[in-house]
Amino acid sequence: MLRDDDLSPAEQAEVLDLAAAIKADPYGHRPLAGPRAVAVIFDKPSTRTRVSFQVGIAALGGTPVVIDGRDAQLGRGESIADTARVLSRYVDAIVWRTGADERIQEMAAHAGVPVVNALTDGFHPCQVLADLQTIVERQGRTAGLTLTYLGDGANNMAHSLLLGGATAGMHVRIASPEGFHPDPAVLADARTRAADTGGSATAVMVGSRAAALEAAAGAEVLVTDTWTSMGQEEDGLDRVAPFRPCRIDDELLAGAAPDATVLHCLPAHRGDEITAELLDGPTSAVWDEAENRLHAQKALLTWLLER
Ligand code: CP
Ligand code: NVA
Repeated sequence: MLRDDDLSPAEQAEVLDLAAAIKADPYGHRPLAGPRAVAVIFDKPSTRTRVSFQVGIAALGGTPVVIDGRDAQLGRGESIADTARVLSRYVDAIVWRTGADERIQEMAAHAGVPVVNALTDGFHPCQVLADLQTIVERQGRTAGLTLTYLGDGANNMAHSLLLGGATAGMHVRIASPEGFHPDPAVLADARTRAADTGGSATAVMVGSRAAALEAAAGAEVLVTDTWTSMGQEEDGLDRVAPFRPCRIDDELLAGAAPDATVLHCLPAHRGDEITAELLDGPTSAVWDEAENRLHAQKALLTWLLER
C-alpha cells in the first residue's frame, strides 16, 4: 500500500467498511493474535501515526516493533533491499515513514511481506483512509461529493487526496498558488481512476482571494494542510505570502455547501492555513479524523494480512 490507488474502488470500500466495523467493536477483531509482529519505522517525526499504529497493532493482538530509522543500521548505510529481506524474516508487515517515494518502492520490491506507506514526500494514504472514514461519518457518503483542498498542491496530502478521493468517487479540487501545483502524472492517474468511479480531479490556480473562494464554492468538504511539510523547512521557497489567500476561514466556509466538513491531518498552525475559530469550531472534524487513523489502519492491516 504505497499510494492510494494501490486499492481498487471495491477494495477501498471493503477497507472503509471494515474500519467502521472495527470502530463499533474495537476489541472484537484480533487477526494478529498468535502473535504476529509489525515493524513500524520512522525516518521523520510523528505523533498520530506512531501512536495509532502502535496501539492499533497491539489491539489486533499483534506485537508492534517501533523503530527510529536513524537508530537502525538503515540509518548508517545498510541498504533498503537488505533491510527488507531481513525484516521480512521477523515480521508480518512493514510500515514505513520516509522521504523519497523511491525508497519505499525499493522496500516493497524486496520485502516478502506487505509494505504500508506511513507518509512519504509524495503520498500519505493512511491519512486519506481516515479522512474518507470521517467524511462518511459526517456526510453519509463519499461518492458525488466535492472536496476542495487549499494549500500546497504538490505535497503528500494533495496527491493522496487526489488518488484516494477519486477512488472514492469524489470530485477533488486542488487549489494552490503558482509553483505549488500537483505532479501532473498524479493528476493524470487520479483522472484515470475518476473515469471509473464517476468522480473528477482538477487543479486550480489560486492567485487571489476570489480564486480561493471560487474553488471552495459549494464544496461539501474543505481540507488544508501545513504550508511547509517535513523536510521543506530549508527549501528557500516563500511558503507564506503566496498561500495567504488559501487560508480556511469563515468567509471561505460561508461559500461552501451548508453543513460542510472541515478536515486537517494535523499538526495545524492556527492563523496560517486555518483560523483557530474554524479548527476548534463545530464544522471541524479534525479530532474524529485523528481518531480514525487508529480504526482505518487497523482495518488496512487486517485486510492486508487476512485477504
Ligand atoms: N497526520 C499525521 O500523520 O500526523 P503525525 O505526523 O503526527 O503522524
Ligand atoms: N504534509 C505534511 C503532513 C504531516 C502529517 C508533511 O509532510 O509534513
